[in-house]
Amino acid sequence: MTKLNLSTQVVHAGEKRDKAYHAITNPIVQTSTYTFRNTQAMVDYMEARLWGEPVDREEYGRYGNPTVTTVEAKLAALDNGEAACLCSSGMAAITTTLFSLLSAGGHIVMTNDCYRRTRQFVTKFLSRYGVEMTQVPMGDYEALEAAIRPNTKVIMSESPTNPYLRVVDLEKLVAIAKKHKVKTIIDSTFATPINQRPLEYGVDFVIHSATKYLGGHNDLLAGVVIGSDYMIATIKETKGLLGDVSDPHTAYLLLRGLKTLELRVKRQNESADKIAHFLAKHPAVRRAYYPGLVSHPDYEIAIEQMSGFGGVVSFELETDLAGAGHFIDQMTIPYIGPSLGGVESLIEQVAITSYYELSTEERTAIGISDSLVRLAVGIESADDLIADLAQALDKAFPEVPLEQPHYQAVNHLEPALVY
Ligand SMILES: Cc1ncc(COP(=O)(O)O)c(C=O)c1O
Repeated sequence: MTKLNLSTQVVHAGEKRDKAYHAITNPIVQTSTYTFRNTQAMVDYMEARLWGEPVDREEYGRYGNPTVTTVEAKLAALDNGEAACLCSSGMAAITTTLFSLLSAGGHIVMTNDCYRRTRQFVTKFLSRYGVEMTQVPMGDYEALEAAIRPNTKVIMSESPTNPYLRVVDLEKLVAIAKKHKVKTIIDSTFATPINQRPLEYGVDFVIHSATKYLGGHNDLLAGVVIGSDYMIATIKETKGLLGDVSDPHTAYLLLRGLKTLELRVKRQNESADKIAHFLAKHPAVRRAYYPGLVSHPDYEIAIEQMSGFGGVVSFELETDLAGAGHFIDQMTIPYIGPSLGGVESLIEQVAITSYYELSTEERTAIGISDSLVRLAVGIESADDLIADLAQALDKAFPEVPLEQPHYQAVNHLEPALVY
Protein backbone atom coordinates (compact mmCIF):
# COMPACT_ATOMS: atom_id res chain seq x y z
CA MET A 1 0.00 0.00 0.00
CA THR A 2 1.22 3.54 -0.69
CA LYS A 3 2.27 5.48 2.36
CA LEU A 4 -0.75 6.83 4.19
CA ASN A 5 -1.26 10.55 4.68
CA LEU A 6 -0.49 12.03 8.07
CA SER A 7 -4.18 12.66 8.73
CA THR A 8 -4.78 8.90 8.43
CA GLN A 9 -1.62 7.97 10.29
CA VAL A 10 -2.47 10.04 13.37
CA VAL A 11 -5.64 7.97 13.71
CA HIS A 12 -4.42 4.48 12.80
CA ALA A 13 -0.61 4.19 12.75
CA GLY A 14 0.94 1.92 15.37
CA GLU A 15 -2.37 0.41 16.46
CA LYS A 16 -3.36 -3.23 16.11
CA ARG A 17 -6.50 -3.66 14.03
CA ASP A 18 -7.87 -6.29 16.43
CA LYS A 19 -7.84 -4.91 19.91
CA ALA A 20 -8.73 -6.50 23.25
CA TYR A 21 -12.44 -7.33 23.66
CA HIS A 22 -13.13 -6.05 20.11
CA ALA A 23 -12.98 -2.51 21.50
CA ILE A 24 -12.13 0.29 19.06
CA THR A 25 -9.92 1.97 21.67
CA ASN A 26 -6.64 0.68 23.01
CA PRO A 27 -6.73 -0.74 26.52
CA ILE A 28 -4.90 0.90 29.38
CA VAL A 29 -2.83 -2.03 30.60
CA GLN A 30 -2.52 -0.97 34.22
CA THR A 31 0.08 -3.39 35.55
CA SER A 32 3.51 -3.21 37.12
CA THR A 33 4.62 -6.70 36.15
CA TYR A 34 3.90 -9.54 33.72
CA THR A 35 3.69 -13.22 34.57
CA PHE A 36 5.08 -16.42 33.02
CA ARG A 37 3.19 -19.73 32.95
CA ASN A 38 6.22 -21.72 34.08
CA THR A 39 10.02 -21.53 34.34
CA GLN A 40 10.51 -22.75 30.77
CA ALA A 41 8.40 -19.84 29.48
CA MET A 42 10.65 -17.46 31.36
CA VAL A 43 13.79 -19.20 30.05
CA ASP A 44 12.43 -18.98 26.46
CA TYR A 45 11.82 -15.26 26.98
CA MET A 46 15.30 -14.66 28.38
CA GLU A 47 16.92 -16.61 25.52
CA ALA A 48 14.99 -14.62 22.92
CA ARG A 49 16.09 -11.35 24.53
CA LEU A 50 19.66 -12.53 24.81
CA TRP A 51 19.84 -13.30 21.10
CA GLY A 52 17.93 -10.19 20.06
CA GLU A 53 14.94 -12.11 18.71
CA PRO A 54 11.59 -10.30 18.58
CA VAL A 55 9.48 -10.89 21.68
CA ASP A 56 5.82 -9.99 21.69
CA ARG A 57 5.38 -9.69 25.42
CA GLU A 58 6.61 -7.68 28.40
CA GLU A 59 8.54 -8.61 31.52
CA TYR A 60 8.35 -5.70 33.97
CA GLY A 61 6.66 -2.30 33.89
CA ARG A 62 9.85 -0.26 33.97
CA TYR A 63 10.97 -1.89 30.71
CA GLY A 64 7.73 -1.84 28.77
CA ASN A 65 3.95 -1.69 28.65
CA PRO A 66 1.55 -2.49 25.77
CA THR A 67 -0.25 0.88 25.94
CA VAL A 68 3.11 2.65 25.91
CA THR A 69 4.35 0.43 23.06
CA THR A 70 1.31 1.34 20.95
CA VAL A 71 1.84 5.08 21.35
CA GLU A 72 5.56 4.65 20.67
CA ALA A 73 4.75 2.90 17.38
CA LYS A 74 2.42 5.74 16.38
CA LEU A 75 4.96 8.41 17.27
CA ALA A 76 7.72 6.61 15.34
CA ALA A 77 5.46 6.39 12.28
CA LEU A 78 4.49 10.08 12.39
CA ASP A 79 8.10 11.25 12.42
CA ASN A 80 9.13 8.62 9.88
CA GLY A 81 11.45 6.90 12.35
CA GLU A 82 12.03 3.21 13.00
CA ALA A 83 11.36 3.32 16.73
CA ALA A 84 10.41 5.62 19.60
CA CYS A 85 11.00 5.66 23.34
CA LEU A 86 8.33 7.30 25.48
CA CYS A 87 9.62 9.05 28.59
CA SER A 88 7.96 10.63 31.60
CA SER A 89 8.42 14.21 30.30
CA GLY A 90 10.16 16.14 27.56
CA MET A 91 13.04 16.79 29.95
CA ALA A 92 13.25 13.06 30.70
CA ALA A 93 13.49 12.35 26.96
CA ILE A 94 16.31 14.91 26.71
CA THR A 95 18.21 13.74 29.80
CA THR A 96 17.85 10.03 28.98
CA THR A 97 19.06 10.60 25.41
CA LEU A 98 22.03 12.73 26.47
CA PHE A 99 22.97 10.23 29.20
CA SER A 100 22.95 7.54 26.51
CA LEU A 101 25.13 9.45 24.07
CA LEU A 102 27.61 11.23 26.32
CA SER A 103 30.18 10.09 28.84
CA ALA A 104 33.12 11.62 30.72
CA GLY A 105 35.49 13.42 28.35
CA GLY A 106 32.73 13.91 25.77
CA HIS A 107 31.65 17.21 24.27
CA ILE A 108 28.32 18.53 22.98
CA VAL A 109 27.63 21.51 20.72
CA MET A 110 24.33 23.32 21.28
CA THR A 111 22.68 26.24 19.54
CA ASN A 112 22.03 29.18 21.82
CA ASP A 113 18.30 29.97 21.68
CA CYS A 114 16.86 26.99 23.54
CA TYR A 115 14.73 25.80 26.42
CA ARG A 116 16.63 26.95 29.48
CA ARG A 117 16.31 23.67 31.36
CA THR A 118 17.97 21.75 28.51
CA ARG A 119 20.96 24.09 28.65
CA GLN A 120 21.01 23.89 32.45
CA PHE A 121 21.06 20.09 32.36
CA VAL A 122 24.20 20.21 30.25
CA THR A 123 25.99 23.11 31.96
CA LYS A 124 25.04 22.41 35.57
CA PHE A 125 24.61 18.64 35.60
CA LEU A 126 26.47 16.82 32.82
CA SER A 127 29.48 19.06 33.52
CA ARG A 128 29.77 17.30 36.92
CA TYR A 129 30.36 14.07 35.02
CA GLY A 130 33.09 15.51 32.78
CA VAL A 131 30.98 16.44 29.77
CA GLU A 132 31.83 19.76 28.10
CA MET A 133 29.55 22.00 26.07
CA THR A 134 30.08 24.72 23.48
CA GLN A 135 27.18 26.98 22.66
CA VAL A 136 27.06 28.54 19.21
CA PRO A 137 24.82 31.28 17.85
CA MET A 138 21.79 29.92 16.07
CA GLY A 139 22.16 30.27 12.31
CA ASP A 140 25.98 30.51 12.34
CA TYR A 141 27.03 27.27 10.60
CA GLU A 142 30.70 28.27 10.42
CA ALA A 143 30.76 28.68 14.20
CA LEU A 144 28.94 25.36 14.52
CA GLU A 145 31.55 23.51 12.48
CA ALA A 146 34.40 25.34 14.19
CA ALA A 147 33.06 24.26 17.59
CA ILE A 148 33.42 20.57 16.75
CA ARG A 149 36.39 18.91 18.46
CA PRO A 150 37.78 15.38 18.27
CA ASN A 151 35.73 14.47 21.38
CA THR A 152 32.45 15.98 20.14
CA LYS A 153 29.71 13.35 20.21
CA VAL A 154 26.51 15.31 19.71
CA ILE A 155 25.09 18.45 18.11
CA MET A 156 21.75 19.43 19.61
CA SER A 157 19.36 22.14 18.53
CA GLU A 158 15.73 23.04 18.83
CA SER A 159 13.84 23.96 15.71
CA PRO A 160 11.86 26.19 15.96
CA THR A 161 13.55 27.48 19.09
CA ASN A 162 12.13 28.81 22.29
CA PRO A 163 11.34 31.77 22.49
CA TYR A 164 12.56 33.36 19.22
CA LEU A 165 11.34 30.59 16.90
CA ARG A 166 14.63 30.33 15.03
CA VAL A 167 14.68 27.52 12.47
CA VAL A 168 17.74 25.34 11.90
CA ASP A 169 18.81 24.59 8.34
CA LEU A 170 18.61 20.82 8.69
CA GLU A 171 20.53 20.07 5.50
CA LYS A 172 23.47 22.20 6.61
CA LEU A 173 23.39 20.82 10.13
CA VAL A 174 23.35 17.20 8.97
CA ALA A 175 26.10 17.77 6.39
CA ILE A 176 28.41 19.21 9.07
CA ALA A 177 27.57 16.44 11.54
CA LYS A 178 28.10 13.65 9.04
CA LYS A 179 31.42 15.12 7.92
CA HIS A 180 32.64 14.97 11.51
CA LYS A 181 30.82 11.73 12.45
CA VAL A 182 28.79 13.42 15.17
CA LYS A 183 25.23 12.46 16.15
CA THR A 184 22.46 15.05 15.76
CA ILE A 185 19.44 15.71 17.96
CA ILE A 186 16.61 18.06 17.04
CA ASP A 187 14.09 19.07 19.67
CA SER A 188 11.11 19.41 17.34
CA THR A 189 8.56 20.18 20.06
CA PHE A 190 7.48 23.52 18.54
CA ALA A 191 7.05 22.00 15.06
CA THR A 192 5.43 18.57 15.63
CA PRO A 193 5.68 15.93 12.87
CA ILE A 194 2.85 17.75 11.10
CA ASN A 195 5.06 20.75 10.32
CA GLN A 196 8.53 19.23 10.09
CA ARG A 197 10.18 15.78 10.04
CA PRO A 198 13.91 16.15 10.74
CA LEU A 199 14.68 12.40 10.44
CA GLU A 200 13.91 12.71 6.71
CA TYR A 201 16.91 15.08 6.47
CA GLY A 202 19.22 12.54 8.10
CA VAL A 203 19.00 13.80 11.68
CA ASP A 204 19.69 10.94 14.12
CA PHE A 205 17.20 11.73 16.89
CA VAL A 206 14.04 13.77 17.13
CA ILE A 207 12.81 14.71 20.58
CA HIS A 208 9.43 16.14 21.51
CA SER A 209 7.98 17.33 24.74
CA ALA A 210 4.74 15.39 24.20
CA THR A 211 3.31 17.52 26.99
CA LYS A 212 2.81 20.19 24.34
CA TYR A 213 1.17 19.64 20.92
CA LEU A 214 1.32 15.83 20.85
CA GLY A 215 -0.80 15.47 23.99
CA GLY A 216 -2.51 18.70 23.06
CA HIS A 217 -4.89 19.12 25.97
CA ASN A 218 -2.71 20.52 28.77
CA ASP A 219 -3.48 17.40 30.79
CA LEU A 220 -0.39 15.20 30.64
CA LEU A 221 3.40 15.24 30.91
CA ALA A 222 5.40 13.06 28.52
CA GLY A 223 8.34 13.14 26.17
CA VAL A 224 9.55 11.04 23.30
CA VAL A 225 12.76 10.36 21.42
CA ILE A 226 12.55 8.87 17.94
CA GLY A 227 15.30 7.37 15.79
CA SER A 228 16.68 4.10 14.44
CA ASP A 229 15.80 0.71 15.97
CA TYR A 230 19.37 0.24 17.13
CA MET A 231 19.80 3.64 18.78
CA ILE A 232 16.37 3.63 20.41
CA ALA A 233 17.12 0.20 21.90
CA THR A 234 20.20 1.77 23.53
CA ILE A 235 18.13 4.64 24.87
CA LYS A 236 15.51 2.23 26.23
CA GLU A 237 18.29 0.41 28.08
CA THR A 238 19.29 3.74 29.71
CA LYS A 239 15.64 4.51 30.44
CA GLY A 240 15.32 1.15 32.24
CA LEU A 241 18.35 2.00 34.39
CA LEU A 242 17.32 5.58 35.15
CA GLY A 243 13.74 4.61 35.93
CA ASP A 244 12.33 7.25 33.61
CA VAL A 245 8.97 5.51 33.33
CA SER A 246 5.97 6.56 31.26
CA ASP A 247 2.77 5.27 32.80
CA PRO A 248 0.01 3.51 30.83
CA HIS A 249 -2.71 6.05 31.64
CA THR A 250 -0.59 8.90 30.28
CA ALA A 251 0.19 6.79 27.21
CA TYR A 252 -3.55 6.33 26.65
CA LEU A 253 -4.23 10.08 26.96
CA LEU A 254 -1.39 10.75 24.54
CA LEU A 255 -2.72 8.18 22.08
CA ARG A 256 -6.12 9.87 22.22
CA GLY A 257 -4.64 13.35 21.87
CA LEU A 258 -2.63 12.28 18.83
CA LYS A 259 -5.80 11.35 16.92
CA THR A 260 -6.58 15.04 16.49
CA LEU A 261 -2.98 16.23 16.15
CA GLU A 262 -3.22 17.17 12.50
CA LEU A 263 -6.53 19.01 12.93
CA ARG A 264 -5.28 20.93 15.92
CA VAL A 265 -1.87 21.81 14.52
CA LYS A 266 -3.30 23.01 11.21
CA ARG A 267 -5.72 25.29 13.07
CA GLN A 268 -2.94 26.53 15.35
CA ASN A 269 -0.67 27.20 12.35
CA GLU A 270 -3.38 29.22 10.62
CA SER A 271 -4.35 31.19 13.70
CA ALA A 272 -0.77 31.93 14.77
CA ASP A 273 0.07 33.13 11.28
CA LYS A 274 -2.87 35.56 11.30
CA ILE A 275 -2.02 36.72 14.82
CA ALA A 276 1.68 37.21 13.96
CA HIS A 277 0.75 39.40 11.00
CA PHE A 278 -1.68 41.37 13.15
CA LEU A 279 0.95 41.92 15.83
CA ALA A 280 3.71 42.76 13.35
CA LYS A 281 1.81 45.80 12.15
CA HIS A 282 0.56 46.99 15.53
CA PRO A 283 2.31 50.21 16.61
CA ALA A 284 2.63 49.08 20.22
CA VAL A 285 4.56 46.00 19.13
CA ARG A 286 8.29 46.64 18.80
CA ARG A 287 8.89 43.38 16.99
CA ALA A 288 6.97 40.17 16.32
CA TYR A 289 8.79 36.85 15.95
CA TYR A 290 7.21 34.13 13.84
CA PRO A 291 8.87 32.01 11.13
CA GLY A 292 6.03 32.87 8.73
CA LEU A 293 6.86 36.60 8.82
CA VAL A 294 9.24 37.75 6.11
CA SER A 295 11.00 39.78 8.78
CA HIS A 296 12.02 36.58 10.57
CA PRO A 297 15.70 35.73 10.05
CA ASP A 298 14.83 32.13 9.10
CA TYR A 299 11.79 32.84 6.95
CA GLU A 300 13.43 31.40 3.81
CA ILE A 301 14.50 28.17 5.44
CA ALA A 302 11.17 27.80 7.24
CA ILE A 303 9.35 28.04 3.90
CA GLU A 304 11.64 25.31 2.50
CA GLN A 305 11.62 22.97 5.41
CA MET A 306 8.30 23.31 7.18
CA SER A 307 4.75 22.74 6.05
CA GLY A 308 3.41 25.08 8.73
CA PHE A 309 5.10 27.54 11.08
CA GLY A 310 3.59 26.39 14.36
CA GLY A 311 1.32 27.86 16.99
CA VAL A 312 3.68 30.06 19.00
CA VAL A 313 4.15 33.78 18.39
CA SER A 314 6.61 35.84 20.43
CA PHE A 315 6.56 39.64 20.47
CA GLU A 316 8.25 42.54 22.18
CA LEU A 317 6.13 45.45 23.26
CA GLU A 318 7.05 49.14 23.30
CA THR A 319 7.18 49.06 27.09
CA ASP A 320 9.03 47.67 30.12
CA LEU A 321 8.61 44.71 32.49
CA ALA A 322 5.61 46.18 34.32
CA GLY A 323 3.98 47.43 31.11
CA ALA A 324 4.12 44.02 29.47
CA GLY A 325 2.62 42.45 32.58
CA HIS A 326 -0.15 45.04 32.52
CA PHE A 327 -0.88 44.16 28.87
CA ILE A 328 -1.01 40.43 29.65
CA ASP A 329 -3.40 41.06 32.52
CA GLN A 330 -5.86 42.71 30.08
CA MET A 331 -6.13 39.52 27.98
CA THR A 332 -9.32 37.59 28.61
CA ILE A 333 -9.05 34.41 26.48
CA PRO A 334 -5.54 32.99 26.98
CA TYR A 335 -4.64 31.72 30.41
CA ILE A 336 -1.41 32.98 31.95
CA GLY A 337 0.86 29.96 32.20
CA PRO A 338 4.17 28.45 31.10
CA SER A 339 3.39 25.86 28.45
CA LEU A 340 2.24 25.62 24.83
CA GLY A 341 0.59 23.32 22.34
CA GLY A 342 -2.70 22.68 24.13
CA VAL A 343 -6.22 23.49 23.01
CA GLU A 344 -6.34 26.44 25.41
CA SER A 345 -4.21 29.46 24.47
CA LEU A 346 -1.53 30.36 26.98
CA ILE A 347 0.34 33.63 27.37
CA GLU A 348 3.47 34.40 29.36
CA GLN A 349 6.04 37.09 29.89
CA VAL A 350 9.32 35.29 29.20
CA ALA A 351 11.38 37.45 31.60
CA ILE A 352 9.12 36.43 34.48
CA THR A 353 8.34 32.80 33.61
CA SER A 354 11.83 31.68 32.59
CA TYR A 355 14.35 34.33 33.69
CA TYR A 356 12.87 35.77 36.88
CA GLU A 357 16.05 35.47 38.96
CA LEU A 358 18.04 37.59 36.48
CA SER A 359 18.18 41.40 36.46
CA THR A 360 17.01 43.40 33.46
CA GLU A 361 20.67 43.98 32.51
CA GLU A 362 21.46 40.25 32.71
CA ARG A 363 18.41 39.40 30.66
CA THR A 364 19.28 42.01 28.04
CA ALA A 365 22.80 40.56 27.84
CA ILE A 366 21.39 37.16 26.86
CA GLY A 367 18.89 38.70 24.48
CA ILE A 368 15.72 38.44 26.55
CA SER A 369 13.79 41.67 26.57
CA ASP A 370 11.68 42.47 29.63
CA SER A 371 8.72 43.14 27.37
CA LEU A 372 8.96 39.85 25.45
CA VAL A 373 5.62 38.04 25.44
CA ARG A 374 5.08 34.49 24.23
CA LEU A 375 1.61 33.58 23.03
CA ALA A 376 0.95 29.87 22.55
CA VAL A 377 -2.12 29.84 20.35
CA GLY A 378 -4.78 27.26 21.15
CA ILE A 379 -7.67 26.14 18.96
CA GLU A 380 -9.99 29.04 19.76
CA SER A 381 -11.12 31.31 16.90
CA ALA A 382 -8.26 33.41 15.54
CA ASP A 383 -10.66 36.34 15.14
CA ASP A 384 -11.57 36.19 18.83
CA LEU A 385 -7.92 36.03 19.83
CA ILE A 386 -7.04 38.99 17.61
CA ALA A 387 -9.96 40.98 19.02
CA ASP A 388 -8.74 40.10 22.51
CA LEU A 389 -5.18 41.18 21.67
CA ALA A 390 -6.49 44.41 20.13
CA GLN A 391 -8.54 45.36 23.18
CA ALA A 392 -5.68 44.47 25.56
CA LEU A 393 -3.22 46.56 23.50
CA ASP A 394 -5.71 49.43 23.44
CA LYS A 395 -6.02 49.32 27.22
CA ALA A 396 -2.30 48.92 27.84
CA PHE A 397 -1.26 51.58 25.29
CA PRO A 398 -4.09 54.14 25.25
CA GLU A 399 -1.80 56.82 23.79
CA VAL A 400 -0.69 54.82 20.72
CA PRO A 401 -2.27 55.97 17.44
CA LEU A 402 -3.44 52.77 15.76
CA GLU A 403 -3.17 53.96 12.18
CA GLN A 404 0.57 54.62 12.32
CA PRO A 405 2.37 52.42 9.70
CA HIS A 406 5.25 51.90 12.12
CA TYR A 407 5.46 48.17 11.40
CA GLN A 408 6.94 48.70 7.95
CA ALA A 409 10.07 50.26 9.39
CA VAL A 410 10.48 47.84 12.25
CA ASN A 411 9.65 44.53 10.68
CA HIS A 412 10.62 45.09 7.06
CA LEU A 413 7.47 43.34 5.95
CA GLU A 414 6.70 43.26 2.29
CA PRO A 415 3.32 44.96 1.94
CA ALA A 416 1.90 42.02 -0.02
CA LEU A 417 2.46 39.80 2.96
CA VAL A 418 0.93 42.15 5.48
CA TYR A 419 -2.61 41.15 6.39
C1 LIG B 1 11.41 23.00 23.42
C2 LIG B 1 11.15 22.28 24.71
N1 LIG B 1 11.74 21.10 24.91
C3 LIG B 1 11.54 20.41 26.06
C4 LIG B 1 10.73 20.91 27.06
C5 LIG B 1 10.54 20.12 28.31
O1 LIG B 1 9.35 19.40 28.25
P1 LIG B 1 8.56 18.89 29.52
O2 LIG B 1 7.99 20.08 30.20
O3 LIG B 1 7.55 17.95 28.97
O4 LIG B 1 9.55 18.19 30.40
C6 LIG B 1 10.09 22.12 26.88
C7 LIG B 1 9.22 22.67 27.94
O5 LIG B 1 8.71 23.75 27.85
C8 LIG B 1 10.31 22.83 25.67
O6 LIG B 1 9.74 24.02 25.45
